[in-house]
Amino acid sequence: MNKKTFYVTTPIYYPSGTLHIGHVFTTTLAWTLRNYKTKMGYDAKMLTGADEHGLKIQRKAEENKMNPQEYVDKMTDIFKSLWTKLEIDYDYYSRTTSENHVKSVQKIFSDLSSKGDIYKDYYEGLYSVSDEEFFTEKDAVKKEDGYYSPVSDHKLELVKEESYFFKLSKYEEWLKKYIKNNPTFIVNPNTTKELFRNFLDKGLEELSVTRSTFTWGVPILEDDKHILYVWLDALSNYITALGYNNTSNQDFIKYWENGDEIVHIMAKEITRFHCIYWPIMLEALELKQPTSIVSHGWIVTSTGKMSKSKGNVIDPLQLIDEYGPEVVKYYFASKFSLDQDGTFDEEFIKSAYNNELANIFGNLLSRTIAMSVQNFGEQPIKYSDSEQDIDLRMKNDILAHTSEYKEMFDKFQLKNAFESTISLGRKLNNYIDQTTPWLLKTEDEKVRLEKILNTLLNGIYAIYTMLSVVMPNKANEAMKLLGQSSLDFNEISNWNKFNTSQLIKSTPLFERKK
Ligand code: MSP
Repeated sequence: MNKKTFYVTTPIYYPSGTLHIGHVFTTTLAWTLRNYKTKMGYDAKMLTGADEHGLKIQRKAEENKMNPQEYVDKMTDIFKSLWTKLEIDYDYYSRTTSENHVKSVQKIFSDLSSKGDIYKDYYEGLYSVSDEEFFTEKDAVKKEDGYYSPVSDHKLELVKEESYFFKLSKYEEWLKKYIKNNPTFIVNPNTTKELFRNFLDKGLEELSVTRSTFTWGVPILEDDKHILYVWLDALSNYITALGYNNTSNQDFIKYWENGDEIVHIMAKEITRFHCIYWPIMLEALELKQPTSIVSHGWIVTSTGKMSKSKGNVIDPLQLIDEYGPEVVKYYFASKFSLDQDGTFDEEFIKSAYNNELANIFGNLLSRTIAMSVQNFGEQPIKYSDSEQDIDLRMKNDILAHTSEYKEMFDKFQLKNAFESTISLGRKLNNYIDQTTPWLLKTEDEKVRLEKILNTLLNGIYAIYTMLSVVMPNKANEAMKLLGQSSLDFNEISNWNKFNTSQLIKSTPLFERKK
């Protein structure tokens, strides 16, 4: 049978500097979702990459005395080495300087032009190089010496230049209807409200889509003075990486046109580009829309939003050295609600590690295996029915928390999903305290003991299956200690899976940190 497909993307990041924990957050979410969908039986793919054109990159390369291509090549190596260290594997690494992308995006521009959706005019306005974004005087922040970006607080430059424009207004009514008719397209209803209030209700301005005063960009075929404005170039990556306009790559057909689920994840400052410009571009190209757009808040520090000038940017490499890649990913996937900003604090990683991974999940595994091996040696801990309320309740809880976890994942609420896992872990530890298995010693009592241990093993199996999407290596270790050959959501309700398993006693999976 053909599997359903799932395609999730992160933004493609600017290689104007190294990546920080904010980028790690988004990429961890996308990666965890991809893994979850794979576990649920989907053919699931994930894209990340780099957005390599634009004035900001051109200037950065000049500062580094490199040509822009050399500079972005070097940065891509640095980005990729971070993902390797974090043990984040992706299926597509999209680069806007790749030949495939350049050709495809040139064709996209030509197609939009032939449809009559593009016209030439002059652009005059305020531009933020650091955000690669135009602002009107109304939206900009006025200070004594000029206008500043409301997003990054960088000074805006006044530009006047010839530019091609994309007729957004032609599609405005269509977009409003589309969003209203598809209430889960933009996942967070507050995001939808803000987009209407700030942009759609005010009427869309036409979008400048080419620049003619610098050269680091994709040249358009129709006019050699112009290069594509970064956003048209960048957003297209989500389809060019799949082989759109490239007949030798069938992935576009499989994961986009005939695909089942397509999800874009990004933070709030670029939601507008993904929820307004991108759907309109797709509609103009007569292509299908993504299924869901997930916009999340920012990771901030106790001294506010991370920025180079404030010197409060947190380097993920240090965290990986200290805690290892899986703990870092567990922390980012499980501790932040997407609908608000969240404060990073290293103490929270440590407490999540000690309180959840070591005390709840690790302890549960080692206690249960130790009691099993001590009392039953190499004999498997077999399942038999129980009439006792406490056992029935525990088994119900295992199934209920598994369902809740899935429901939360399907709504992109990863924090709530993992809270359900933690809560199941607590209940299993309480179940041990209440059933006092360590007191059951006689042959008669051993019948009861085996039922308790089997319930625990089944609960632990559910927990490590849920954790496997974010900590695959630790979950694999647990799987081996449990004598299992896989961790599969479909097996959670099969209580007989330990009937032939050989358990292995070992040192703790998570050593407590001082
Ligand atoms: N190149 C564009 C995106 C083009 S996508 C077609 C861009 N790049 S970026 O390098 O600035 O990355 C922005 C994204 O990085 C955010 O939308 C978010 O996914 C992630 N984050 C960067 N800083 C972040 C935080 N402080 N907190 C959370 N996410 C952060 O915009």
